[in-house]
Amino acid sequence: MSIIEEWYWQDFEEVGSTNDEAKLLAQSDNYDRFVVTSKKQSSGRGRRGREWIAIEGNLFASFGLKIDAKYIGELSFIVSLSALEMLKEYNYNLNVKLKWPNDVLVNDKKISGILIEREGSFFIIGIGINVIDYPKNVDLLYDAISMKDVNIQSDRLDVLNKYIKHLNHCLSEWDANGFEIIKQKWLDNAKSLGKEIIVKFENDEKKGLFSGVDDNGYLLLDIDGSIEKIYAGDVFYI
Ligand code: BTN
Repeated sequence: MSIIEEWYWQDFEEVGSTNDEAKLLAQSDNYDRFVVTSKKQSSGRGRRGREWIAIEGNLFASFGLKIDAKYIGELSFIVSLSALEMLKEYNYNLNVKLKWPNDVLVNDKKISGILIEREGSFFIIGIGINVIDYPKNVDLLYDAISMKDVNIQSDRLDVLNKYIKHLNHCLSEWDANGFEIIKQKWLDNAKSLGKEIIVKFENDEKKGLFSGVDDNGYLLLDIDGSIEKIYAGDVFYI
């Protein structure tokens, strides 16, 4: 246990899900900002009820932040933009893009996933980053890649420290200047803005032009000239 730049930090050897440990810490209400990490994670969760397969050496971190629930959309962009900026710190020329709602892609493949949950007055922001590897021989919804695959040699704690630095920076910028600048930066780095995408739902899918995001975090899909707001779904590029 220690404090990393004003974040209370707990690192475990093994947990089920760092999001669950973070929820327990949120219930104790001892810290307004904290981060829980673990070397191993036996039942990691992904978005929309999926599993997140945890390979030892990758980063599994869950941040607890006491923020009003109405900011869910804004926060989602802040945490993914911070991951993009962290990766650019390792290599400014890296081909990093953001994918709605909060995935981070390198060379069009998923390098990081984020799961945001709520516990009392806290957001629990779980982030998985493929530092050294990604699951092979399993059916992944999206192609994956690791930092090591693009010649970034690092380890989970260095990635954590750099991520926290960028998260602090984005949170301060949000605090000082509001959401507009964050949203614009997110859109500047979004993959396929203005292009055709498919959004898949449980039993349905919609095709349209990816025309932006709104302040609530909804994806704006232009279907034959009328804008539809999408709250949840899986984006695929054409
Ligand atoms: C996704 O892309 O589906 C989101 C994946 C989120 C995975 C991280 S790993 C740390 C934290 N603990 C979990 O159980 N899930 C998140």
